[in-house]
Amino acid sequence: MRFSLLVTLFGVGAVLMAVAVVFMYGTDGSGEPRTPVEHGRRLFRLQGCATCHAIGGGISRGPDLAGLIPRLSARLTDTAYRNHLDSLQVARPDVYDFFAARYEHVLGVQGEERIKAWFAEHLRNPRFDHFTGLMPDYDHLTEQQVDRLTAFILTLR
Ligand code: HEC
Repeated sequence: MRFSLLVTLFGVGAVLMAVAVVFMYGTDGSGEPRTPVEHGRRLFRLQGCATCHAIGGGISRGPDLAGLIPRLSARLTDTAYRNHLDSLQVARPDVYDFFAARYEHVLGVQGEERIKAWFAEHLRNPRFDHFTGLMPDYDHLTEQQVDRLTAFILTLR
């Protein structure tokens, strides 16, 4: 009798712990559900992005991502991006052909959608339009993780 009571208590305890873990994971610790931007900021840290990218000062092996969105917008206008791709095609026609469908994907949409499309391709393979790039692939991310990271980087203005 005593033993089964212990087992029951243990079971209830385990369920409560599991609920607490799920609850904590889905919130910012204050009990409020995390927004996609908050999830994205957390992923930025957990996925190691922050080890290479400072945001607004500090040591940065890769580009400092402060002011990223205006910079990307300027780089991704029809003219600027096509010029960039033209020089890639001259330098490495073989690699250009290999990634051609991805350039169409980026150029096929406008405005913020283009930034999102570029960023998704950049995460899949950062060398798709920068053959000598040093950033590692993030091909393992789920669609949801990409969406959350995207929500976060869109705040970098
Ligand atoms: C090992 C270092 C490293 C890690 C880790 C890393 N990056 Fe990068 N990242 C770079 C470098 C270097 C570049 C410059 C382009 C290149 O060399 O590929 C870059 C470029 C970028 C750019 C374009 C910046 C610009 O101004 O052109 C973005 C956005 C970016 N990374 C986001 C991320 C995100 C998000 C993650 C995590 C999921 C991440 N990076 C992880 C090194 C890294």
